[in-house]
Amino acid sequence: TLLTVSILGVALVAGTAQARDYDHVRFGVDVPYEPMEYRDADGELTGFDIELGNALCAEMGVTCEWIEQEWDGIVPGLLARNYDAIMSSMTINEERRQTVLFSDPYITIPGAWFAPAGSEIEVINEETLADKSIGVQRGTTFDSYVTDNYGGVASISRYSTADDMVLDLQAQRLDLVFLEFIVGQVTLLDAREGQFQVVGEMVTEPEEYFGEGFGIAFRQRDTALAERFNEALATLKEDGTYDEIFERYFGE
Ligand code: ARG
Repeated sequence: TLLTVSILGVALVAGTAQARDYDHVRFGVDVPYEPMEYRDADGELTGFDIELGNALCAEMGVTCEWIEQEWDGIVPGLLARNYDAIMSSMTINEERRQTVLFSDPYITIPGAWFAPAGSEIEVINEETLADKSIGVQRGTTFDSYVTDNYGGVASISRYSTADDMVLDLQAQRLDLVFLEFIVGQVTLLDAREGQFQVVGEMVTEPEEYFGEGFGIAFRQRDTALAERFNEALATLKEDGTYDEIFERYFGE
């Protein structure tokens, strides 16, 4: 019985630890992914996710901290308690729901294909992608989609950071990259005017990969924390703070 009691004790302590009321939240984030999360000219971490995350923390009355983590280790880092939440343009989908708990969606951004200006590729399908080299960030929804659908026809290069992928497209080592439209717009279309173009349609489907918008991810057991974030998000949407941040990044 002593054993049972101590096992019970451990379980209770573990249970209490899980239900901990956070007064400090550590976010895992993969940088750079401009304009969502990046360092400005002064080296300050900024972007839509960062500003919204900070505003949510302020609304909840908690302090928060951002911990940089490359994308393909971002979920393991959450489960290993290196941080308490992921706010990093993470697409909500069923597959990820098996491992993490998502907040309500806080924004929806389509994916898009980008190629050098003058590329002969006009639509995306098995024929036009045959033997093409495609860049994706490793472990993203774009990686899964391309791997599942074009893995047999195209050659896929997987990058640890979105930045390295964009650099390889600029250096003509890739025919195409596939990523969030807004990120390609800022880092390719705006940064190198006239040198790149969008190919084909904006990508919002299939939903099993792309469909539910971006969410903040938590450990499955942190339901109370997720609920606090959902309430804070609703408040910021009502009181205009959300719109103000949105306008600053995506206005006009
Ligand atoms: N939305 C995509 C996904 O969830 C890509 C996100 C990449 N985020 C980043 N900060 N690099 O897989």
